[in-house]
Amino acid sequence: MAKNTRPDQEKKKFNELFGSPAEFVIRSPGRINIIGEHTDYNDGFVFPATINCRIDFLISGNGTKRVRIYSTNFEEMAEFELDGLKRTHHWSDYIKGVVSELIKAGHEVGGFDGFIGGNVPIGSGLSSSASLEMAVSSACMTLFDFVLDPLEQIKLCRRAENSFVGVGCGIMDQFVIRMGKKNYGLFLDCRSLDYELVPIPTDELVFVIIYSGVKRGLGATEYHQRQKQCERGVLFFSSLNKSLRSLRDVTEDFLFVNREKMDPLIFRRCRHVITENRRVLQAVEALKKPDMQLFGELMNQSHESCKNDYEVSSKELDLLVDLARQVPGVLGARMTGAGFGGCTINLVSRNRVEDLQYKIGNLYSRSTGLTPLFYVTDPEDSVIIEKL
Ligand code: GLA
Repeated sequence: MAKNTRPDQEKKKFNELFGSPAEFVIRSPGRINIIGEHTDYNDGFVFPATINCRIDFLISGNGTKRVRIYSTNFEEMAEFELDGLKRTHHWSDYIKGVVSELIKAGHEVGGFDGFIGGNVPIGSGLSSSASLEMAVSSACMTLFDFVLDPLEQIKLCRRAENSFVGVGCGIMDQFVIRMGKKNYGLFLDCRSLDYELVPIPTDELVFVIIYSGVKRGLGATEYHQRQKQCERGVLFFSSLNKSLRSLRDVTEDFLFVNREKMDPLIFRRCRHVITENRRVLQAVEALKKPDMQLFGELMNQSHESCKNDYEVSSKELDLLVDLARQVPGVLGARMTGAGFGGCTINLVSRNRVEDLQYKIGNLYSRSTGLTPLFYVTDPEDSVIIEKL
């Protein structure tokens, strides 16, 4: 988990490490996915939000051709030259990847010193990687005086992860981390990239994120395997009708009509994606009414689909979800993010949050030996840049 560093300690540590004060701090948020899981790389719909867990990235230009970055999580300094950047399967790949994409895009990037602190837990499904990518690209814009428009920045960060780091993620995380807004969820069409900020009624309800204590062992392997299975589904459907280019184009009726002709595993993977797209649309409608009971019910259904059809949940996440649903005042509970460990997201009446923490704290620890961590969070603003 992230070490929760405080701003004054961070400034002091920067000074000790690099011998001069930091010039800026980029405060880049984590994200929760409220609903719409594994739909982004299928041209589908997602509804995530930014949260107030933030990476603090303290930076200063160093006038050389060298980048030096300290990570509080890894308690380690990474150093590299700007020329000939290569992947080394190290946490610094995320930084190198962004720098390398910026250079490829023709931007002049100089040497700089950076300190990564804050409190976005690594490997917990809150997207610490996209948060870091956004922090690094914003840092370079701030230090080296160039501007990327938001969509360029989003796509560049995704490219860094896809091509440099080698994880074939969709666009959701980078998009919401750049465009998220306080008290809003972001409804995104991952094909057209049209989006709408939809207000979340935060007076009486709040999202509680619960970390299972098990790092998201996603293994890019399982994630990529799911992508391949979806591609097999698309191949099948497009062989029946050429206009079907992705699972986004396939209706539930068409899926069920063809069920017997399909490999049962591929059918289930497709059923998750196709029904999840519908659930996102229904959830956004429910929110606008607002019908928060229905919204919570759709979150519950999403979890069942991730668990049974897409098989990306874990026994710890399932247990957290089951326990939460037994607590009065919990409207919906589901795993969030890629899965295979990480966190659940729970929609909870504000006056029941303590109850939830107490009950889950006890029961979950007793049956797993793990300590769950709770983050009570409203949607928060995107990247913040402060001069120090
Ligand atoms: C990870 C990826 C996203 C998305 C989710 C699953 O967070 O980075 O692009 O695919 O998994 O919804």
